[in-house]
Amino acid sequence: MPDLDALIHAIPKAELHLHIEGTLEPGLMFELARRNRVTLAYDSVDAVRRAYVFSDLQSFLDIYYAACSVLRLEQDFYDLAWAYLERAAAQNVQRAEIFFDPQTHTHRGVPLEAVTSGLHRALQDGQDRFGISSALILCFLRHLSADSAMSTLREALHYRHAFIAVGLDSSEVGHPPEKFRAVFETALGEGLLTVAHAGEEGPPAYVWQALDALHVRRVDHGVRCLEDPALVERLVAEQIPLTVCPLSNVKLRVVPTLARHPLKQMLERGLRATVNSDDPAYFGGYVEDNLRAAGAALDLSRDDVVTLARNSFEASFLPSEDKLRILQQLEATV
Ligand code: HPA
Ligand code: ZN
Repeated sequence: MPDLDALIHAIPKAELHLHIEGTLEPGLMFELARRNRVTLAYDSVDAVRRAYVFSDLQSFLDIYYAACSVLRLEQDFYDLAWAYLERAAAQNVQRAEIFFDPQTHTHRGVPLEAVTSGLHRALQDGQDRFGISSALILCFLRHLSADSAMSTLREALHYRHAFIAVGLDSSEVGHPPEKFRAVFETALGEGLLTVAHAGEEGPPAYVWQALDALHVRRVDHGVRCLEDPALVERLVAEQIPLTVCPLSNVKLRVVPTLARHPLKQMLERGLRATVNSDDPAYFGGYVEDNLRAAGAALDLSRDDVVTLARNSFEASFLPSEDKLRILQQLEATV
């Protein structure tokens, strides 16, 4: 659909669900492995790509955390984020709210300062070079303890200028949002915004908890909300954004095929869905690729695509005057 693809490319877009560690492309993985003398379990870029066949979230996370071993120095985090920003600029991404997982790195002995300053410096340069406005969201690994999350938050408050929100990711089932209530209360008390992965593999009850115990402004994934009509009603009434990741959902077998993805149904029900890329180096594409693939598989209309782009800015944490300016620009493009 060349017309729809041209529109998808041309419109300004916001990326709201992207793990920076999930943008580590095999080429950069090998370069960093060489630089840092880290031995990888693969002997070529092709071998890496062949390994990217997942049966569920955990089978992906095992490979994803192992790959992070190549990230050691401040410059590595800078290079990782810079490579993402180059791709984002080429896809007309104007705003990126980016997750990072400090515990994945501090648990290997990497100083938190190297992580935050490398990422932060790249994002500042991305604003200067590409005009991409961006912000970091610090995610806690939910398979680790609430105490570990709390001490991570306390340490991260030394770099409070570098992030605007906290989130929750990693293995969902068995680690309900409720487990992190106290950590999120502390974060809210520090003026941080909150988001959480919920309703990807976990049940609708986890989405309710993310709303009520963690006071999230957005739900990351949230696709399983459709199993609970009362939850859908609430999400619609409160216009809580859902950061949906279509290609991720197929790769991690949350849905059987893209043609059966509930995105279109979500829009029809009045949910404020956005389209995002999650871990693009692993799942087959960045935000534009997700929009194109979903557009083709679900027969999305031009209006659907514009709604998704509009939703992405409305759901962003941009100041309202910036939102307004970009939304006007969006209307002018279509
Ligand atoms: N879900 C949970 N944790 C994650 C994901 C995801 O899709 N990607 C990276 N960490
Ligand atoms: Zn995610």
